[in-house]
Amino acid sequence: MKPLPLALLPTPLEAYPRLGDPVGIDLHVKRDDLTGAALSGNKVRKLGYLLAEAEALGADTVLTCGAVTSNHARATAVAAAGRGLACRLLLRGREPSRANGNLLLDRLVGAETRFIGRPAWRKRNELLAEMAEEVRAAGGKPYVIPEGGSNAVGSLGYVAAAAELLQQAEQRGLDLRHVVHATGSGGTTAGLAWGFARLGRTDIDVVGIAVCDDEAYFDGVVRRILEEAATRGLATADEVAAARWRIVDTWKGVGYAQTTPAEIAAHREVARTTGLIVDPVYTGKALRGLLGEAREGRLGQEGTTVFLHTGGLFGWFQMPEALEG
Ligand SMILES: Cc1ncc(COP(=O)(O)O)c(C=O)c1O
Repeated sequence: MKPLPLALLPTPLEAYPRLGDPVGIDLHVKRDDLTGAALSGNKVRKLGYLLAEAEALGADTVLTCGAVTSNHARATAVAAAGRGLACRLLLRGREPSRANGNLLLDRLVGAETRFIGRPAWRKRNELLAEMAEEVRAAGGKPYVIPEGGSNAVGSLGYVAAAAELLQQAEQRGLDLRHVVHATGSGGTTAGLAWGFARLGRTDIDVVGIAVCDDEAYFDGVVRRILEEAATRGLATADEVAAARWRIVDTWKGVGYAQTTPAEIAAHREVARTTGLIVDPVYTGKALRGLLGEAREGRLGQEGTTVFLHTGGLFGWFQMPEALEG
């Protein structure tokens, strides 16, 4: 499947000795936060494939869901606008009196928003199907993208990213051993594991730092995505059988999209010493997890460790109070 060229690729691979040296690792950062501006982060790679499929099916309206603060919803809204598609978002949480961060951008690009509470969120897939039916009843052609863009088609974005990263590492003579990233809905982990399996490099340690839920939950999610990929003929049975990943669920802190003064202090230190901005919901927890795992000896010190920076900058504008005090 050929993706739409939504992401600015290849993203840079940069050395960060000031972060890696103190914990004894050769740390490089794969800058997927630089896949674009408003259209930035890991979701853009997934959307390249998802919207290619939407257009191939003749869709004129894209529907998806996420938290009110969702990076995925924002990237979908911006990408849809760029392709001349309508966008409807089902958002978990209360409608704020004043939109900021991702929601502000959703509105700016003209996405329609519908807000639901936690009980209704459990039925999000049924609700998305109902919204798709409404589009059909009005004469439109809907295309539904699941939460986080995390299905087999979306994960193809990270199958391609695995090849891009390995090529960059090889060109520089780096011995790529670990690829660490935030896991929120599983598609990035699934795509990387599948991609390295396709390349015959299952020796590369794909580590997803969970920002919510736990290891058993995400192992199930990743397995289901890979099974879907095989069922749809996107992955071979051998690739699915060979795919390797591990989820580390001890760095999510007090919960999804919640933070602590210790976490904020760590993100601040990274920003001040390197200029790299990690967000409080995903990439901050993942980088803190990477450095913590390395410090505690649970991440091998040999070869090169890559932190996949998946974006999320706008998250800060949704919780400015986190920097107070
Ligand atoms: C900035 C950022 N990083 C990482 C993730 C996690 O990626 P995935 O949903 O593929 O697990 C997300 C979305 O959930 C995100 O918005």
